[in-house]
Amino acid sequence: MQVRGRVVALVPAAGRGTRLGEAQPKAFVEIAGCPMVSIAVEGLLSSGVVDRVVVVVPSELLARAADLVPEQVQVVAGGAERIDSVRAGMDAASDADFVLVHDAARALTPPSLVSRVVSELQAGRSAVVPALPVADTIKTVDDAGDVTGTPDRAQLRAIQTPQGFAADLLRRAYAAAPAGAFATDDAGLVERLGERVHTVPGDPLAFKITTPLDLRLARSLAGG
Ligand code: C5P
Repeated sequence: MQVRGRVVALVPAAGRGTRLGEAQPKAFVEIAGCPMVSIAVEGLLSSGVVDRVVVVVPSELLARAADLVPEQVQVVAGGAERIDSVRAGMDAASDADFVLVHDAARALTPPSLVSRVVSELQAGRSAVVPALPVADTIKTVDDAGDVTGTPDRAQLRAIQTPQGFAADLLRRAYAAAPAGAFATDDAGLVERLGERVHTVPGDPLAFKITTPLDLRLARSLAGG
């Protein structure tokens, strides 16, 4: 059974982006003349499956961000860690039946990936993440740099965003997260509840723009 439900997309864009080495916070760095946060919001809206977007930015950039996104997009202040920024976004999304959490840093994510995630939510899944097989062999290492294990690559996936959730499940996951919890993605908090997280095929274009090389790739793909 398909459940239409109201879809609110949260765009955490409050990171400093120190690994990118640019003068301004990452989400405001331009690709083809357009800040990443604007491109990410446009991708969500053009998917046609998102009812509302909430962007989360550093508090000193609230006014600037509001100028960069369409008028109907809400802009709120984020926090020190990504988990704090997503919490701030969720506080502004009390009308949501489904929540998407989508990093501004994945600016080139195709709208088709957004619809793929939402379709699974509407079909009854309560937590859905895009996943790609990994090309490299992945090893675990200890503090001394010595290898402690080599997980079977066939079972590993690189996880992207948007990550989609039934809104009440994501709220429960955040409510249960211990203070100072370390989470690099939202599905990780849902997994802690013992709930099933389903994967859908990701898209190479949804790569996270993290390093100067990523930025060069993004600019080259976007023609500037
Ligand atoms: O640091 P990382 O690349 O994992 O950040 C992923 C996304 O989370 C980025 O879009 C970044 O702007 C956002 N973020 C945030 N608030 C923070 C840290 C990161 O909104 N305090």
